Amino acid sequence: DTAKRSRGDLVGVRVLVTAGGTREPIDPVRFLGNRSSGRQGVAIAAAAADRGAEVVLLAANIDGAVLEAVSSDQAVRLVTVGTTAELDSTVHAAARGARVVIMAAAVADYRVAEVADQKIRKEDSPGAAPTLTLVENPDILVSLVRDRQDDQVIVGFAAETVDDEDELLERGRRKLARKGVDLLAVNAVGWSEGFESETNEVRVLDAEGDVVVATAGTKRAVADALLDAVVAELNLPES
Ligand code: CTP
Ligand code: CA
Repeated sequence: DTAKRSRGDLVGVRVLVTAGGTREPIDPVRFLGNRSSGRQGVAIAAAAADRGAEVVLLAANIDGAVLEAVSSDQAVRLVTVGTTAELDSTVHAAARGARVVIMAAAVADYRVAEVADQKIRKEDSPGAAPTLTLVENPDILVSLVRDRQDDQVIVGFAAETVDDEDELLERGRRKLARKGVDLLAVNAVGWSEGFESETNEVRVLDAEGDVVVATAGTKRAVADALLDAVVAELNLPES
């Protein structure tokens, strides 16, 4: 509720948020990417700052217009990354001092095995479509959980294409178990839902797989509902 928020229930709490989508280069002019706009993660960073947190936002390929929501916020330190390897090499140090880690970024699962250092040209192999060989990227969230600090609350996100709510929760619970996170925010995505939009519909599962938040609304409202669940996990002293 608003009263609780104006009290600043995250004062002094360090929060790391990753947002956006990593991109994997194919050659100097092309990449493999995904449709994450970063809006939900940026909304979480802004909401956490408004509740008193010291926030580090690791932003992967987020449009400047989306980042404007936090650009003048003294409480949000912005670090930009491009590839999954860059995210991986910055996130661990950033997580070291953080009480809360929220992995909202859509991480590319695979990268191109051999990045061409020149543009791939049709002229060089007329009529023959190239085959891209992919290799799997490390699972950053799993490694954050492995290196978890005492008392650290780690939150994952999962965007799933599903037929119904049951399948969403079932897939969410399996992913939760695989990742070992404290909270997993799940949402249904498709050709026309979830991405680029101003609103979102999210379920938050706790480590037992129980739904602790079910909310739909602006990405800011979803962010505050998620942070309510994070605050509950933190067991902060009442002030
Ligand atoms: N994630 C990560 N590193 C990866 C892949 C995913 O840290 N290489 C994180 C995401 O940031 C997210 C969570 O794991 O918080 C779930 O991502 P998701 O893509 O749903 O999970 P995957 O294990 O990649 O499974 P899927 O095959 O469904 O994509
Ligand atoms: Ca994935």
